[in-house]
Amino acid sequence: MANNHQSGGVSHEKIETSNFLMIVLIFIVLLFGGLVEIVPLFFQKSTTQPIEGLKPYTALQVAGRDVYVREGCYNCHSQMIRPFRAETLRYGAYSLAGEFVYDHPFQWGSKRTGPDLARVGGRYSDEWHRIHLNNPRDVVPESIMPAYPWLEKNTIDASSIGAHMKGLRTLGAPYSDEEIAKAADEVKGKTEMEAVIAYLQVLGIHRK
Ligand code: HEC
Repeated sequence: MANNHQSGGVSHEKIETSNFLMIVLIFIVLLFGGLVEIVPLFFQKSTTQPIEGLKPYTALQVAGRDVYVREGCYNCHSQMIRPFRAETLRYGAYSLAGEFVYDHPFQWGSKRTGPDLARVGGRYSDEWHRIHLNNPRDVVPESIMPAYPWLEKNTIDASSIGAHMKGLRTLGAPYSDEEIAKAADEVKGKTEMEAVIAYLQVLGIHRK
């Protein structure tokens, strides 16, 4: 009864009643959909080229970014402004892929217990950040952000920063040999507080 309108080949009933065939065909469909959507992103200028004026992080900023990752700031802060009016009014121009080509790994995230930080650079003074990171309640009384008082006491490990920048260079950050050679001196004796503030202060400042 079923199938009587089929003239050979694989009938739909055969596919629907065979787990194996169904799985293989679904896989092929998803593979094709993925290829069509994802592969072009690796070749489009808008997703692979840095936006005009974008600079790779300096040694101190790289060190600060490491502190940001180590402390898990991304668990509460995203770094991606979506192209919606409510977001652009609050945070500024929406994020472009080309702003993040030197970010490895990117810190986009999606969890926003605190505000998005994609354009926090230049919004506050270094001193505000210092007080805020030491104890957020000193500047924002209702804040639930944890305090990070040890950042001011810990100094940056200067010995590994050159290797880190070399690694970033293999991923596309255009560091010169000279910048890498000077990296250790640039961060020597600096506190983690200074580093993380240097990092926060460049977030999002390249897109006008
Ligand atoms: C438990 C969640 C949480 C964690 C973890 C966290 N924050 Fe926050 N953060 C918040 C909240 C909530 C606010 C908003 C209140 C305030 O300003 O303190 C905030 C505000 C901020 C602001 C001000 C943003 C603005 O536009 O006003 C900065 C900068 C910031 N956090 C940086 C950091 C850094 C750097 C770290 C990691 C060292 C961190 N945060 C970790 C919750 C968090």
